[in-house]
Amino acid sequence: MGFPKNFLWGGASAANQYEGAWNEDGKGPSIFDASTAGSVSQTRVYHDHIVEGQYYPNHNATDFYHHYKEDIAYLAEMGFKVFRLSIAWSRIFPHGDDEEPNEAGLRFYDNVFDECIKYGIEPLVTILHYETPLHLANEYNGWYSRKLIDFYYRFCEVIFERYKNKVKYWLTFNEINCIAIGNPYMAGACRVKDGLSVNQVTFQAAHHQFLASAKAVKLAHDKYPDFRMGMMLGGLFFYPNTCNPVDMLRFQEMNYQQFYFCDLQCRGYYNNHAKALLKKKGVSLQVEPGDDEILRNGTVDFISFSYYMTINASGEERPELKLAGSAIASPKNPYLEATDWGMSIDPQGLRYMLNELYDRYQKPLFIVENGLGAVDELTEDGKVHDNYRIDYLKRHIEVMREAVEEDGVDLMGYTSWGCIDCISAGTGEMKKRYGFVYVDRDDLGNGTMKRTRKDSFYWYKHVIETNGEEL
Ligand code: BG6
Repeated sequence: MGFPKNFLWGGASAANQYEGAWNEDGKGPSIFDASTAGSVSQTRVYHDHIVEGQYYPNHNATDFYHHYKEDIAYLAEMGFKVFRLSIAWSRIFPHGDDEEPNEAGLRFYDNVFDECIKYGIEPLVTILHYETPLHLANEYNGWYSRKLIDFYYRFCEVIFERYKNKVKYWLTFNEINCIAIGNPYMAGACRVKDGLSVNQVTFQAAHHQFLASAKAVKLAHDKYPDFRMGMMLGGLFFYPNTCNPVDMLRFQEMNYQQFYFCDLQCRGYYNNHAKALLKKKGVSLQVEPGDDEILRNGTVDFISFSYYMTINASGEERPELKLAGSAIASPKNPYLEATDWGMSIDPQGLRYMLNELYDRYQKPLFIVENGLGAVDELTEDGKVHDNYRIDYLKRHIEVMREAVEEDGVDLMGYTSWGCIDCISAGTGEMKKRYGFVYVDRDDLGNGTMKRTRKDSFYWYKHVIETNGEEL
């Protein structure tokens, strides 16, 4: 049986980590354009303006903006059925709150989608992939402000109408739950200030994102019946560290915190767990009349998620275990190996997660990120021998097949992360690569941007050709 015939094989990217051209053709800065580079031991710093002389890795990223034809040809050569990308909000609305869109920005994505369609590649668009316009962060405190709902809605109206004949699959917010892992700036463009608690800012901003997402979904359902609207969950999936009941309870609590986001977007209301969580975190949500209805009327059609690792939940707080590039402080799982950036490698956890999500929501699933961040070497023969990446992906795809074939999970597709090398979101490094195509660029911004097919390129091409039969 294997994967369904129409299974969507492909790869994923995000405008801020890939496009570059941060200030070309009328584009305004996003919060990532003012974010410094970091490393596994040093967190990225988010400035509120562009500091003269400071190096910002996302400014040029890996220059998809000027290489899109070449890059999409590589994707087509691998046989991609789908390509996940985001539309940089500040390319369309440079400040985010502008009245009129920037035509040059709109034209760029027309060109990109036309190029995809030429090869029969379906675009899968993330409407907001962490790249809120910097002006909205500075002027309104980002998603903490309810005003962003309207700005986002205007952005959706424009891009839905413009690309209605080119794009069918949409994700409203990238990794919507990641706003609640300690730093609401990256996902919510909001700072913790005015004596507010981090939880108050985070969950209020998340409420505004739920409303914005629901309104976008409703707009799509009412006006564009062919659209398929998805949510996107950051794959923070937990194991209890031991069978000690305190670990078990912590595990359940951490899980509920992730499901909070799925519950809101799939079921459309604050259930008992959600209310309990808010109470425990001391959050008093500012809700307006009509919000309940908006949430109920804007539930998504499918659930997409990223999957990189599993995390051990421990009843003891261990902040010293937190790595700069990872989301959460967690004790090491002794049964699993880890990547150079400390992420556990756990293919079987993916089967657990696919089943868990499908069982809870009974909506089609889509894995829209997965992959191995590793240092690749361009060898003297002009090749990149990344058998470690092949091994990683192979083990995850095998498990996906088991979940589909043996467990009956409804899985729409798979887009591995960073299919052409791009900048890391967590650390801003270039040397943490995920792609099938190597890009000549280093951590200081040096390099020719020349593209080279890695060994994994040929391997993935064969996987797609055989619809996942031959790994
Ligand atoms: C996901 C994000 O969290 O993980 C991507 O949606 C990101 O934007 C990816 O790039 C991998 O993380 P990192 O930090 O290695 O780039």
